[in-house]
Amino acid sequence: MSEVRLVPLREADVRVMARVREDEAAAMGYPDAFGPTELAELRDRIARSGEFDGTEILLGIQVDGRLAGEVQARQPRMGLPPGVFELGIDLFDEADRGHGMGVIALSLLLKRLFEDEGAHRVQLTTDVDNAAMRRTSDRLGFVFEGVMRSFMPSVDGPRDYAIYAITRDDWEARR
Ligand SMILES: CC(C)(COP(=O)(O)OP(=O)(O)OC[C@H]1O[C@@H](n2cnc3c(N)ncnc32)[C@H](O)[C@@H]1OP(=O)(O)O)[C@@H](O)C(=O)NCCC(=O)NCCS
Repeated sequence: MSEVRLVPLREADVRVMARVREDEAAAMGYPDAFGPTELAELRDRIARSGEFDGTEILLGIQVDGRLAGEVQARQPRMGLPPGVFELGIDLFDEADRGHGMGVIALSLLLKRLFEDEGAHRVQLTTDVDNAAMRRTSDRLGFVFEGVMRSFMPSVDGPRDYAIYAITRDDWEARR
């Protein structure tokens, strides 16, 4: 099994992460949504990667020494209460998906959030048809809480998103 680690991102990672965001913006039907302003913001976020910067913890997923993806634990100011984080994850390459790395990366992030960052609830949202993320959420002990209708823009119109959460009590009960 490959060694999966969460590591701070570096300036050299900007290019691959920008490409991922350009593709996402196109898939949502907003191809201009990732431009020079967003690129500058991404560089700033990468410069702060590794620690909670008051808004998020952004980390790279390193697999056997190479950058295979990213995770975020977001806590936007005025968007979520203290102690509540929202997760995001992306394994960039299709070939890296479905080999257990998503579960490992998110377990490492959950451990950090509950043990070191004062989390009492960690949540995530995903497209109702994202079977991989929904199964990954189940595997990690997240509880399905419902569907946010018409949530995420896409080229075919807004998509419904499932919301999942794991509380500190849930997490401690699993250990
Ligand atoms: C979603 C994602 C993080 C999951 O990570 P992963 O490494 O591919 O998943 P894992 O290999 O750890 O598998 C976790 C579980 O999901 C299942 N699974 C994986 N891919 C699946 C798929 N395409 N369809 C159905 N189930 C799938 C696995 O079988 C496993 O369940 P099991 O233990 O019961 O067999 C990864 O696929 C990814 O980055 N996808 C693209 C970006 C994305 O969708 N991010 C989430 C946005 S909210």
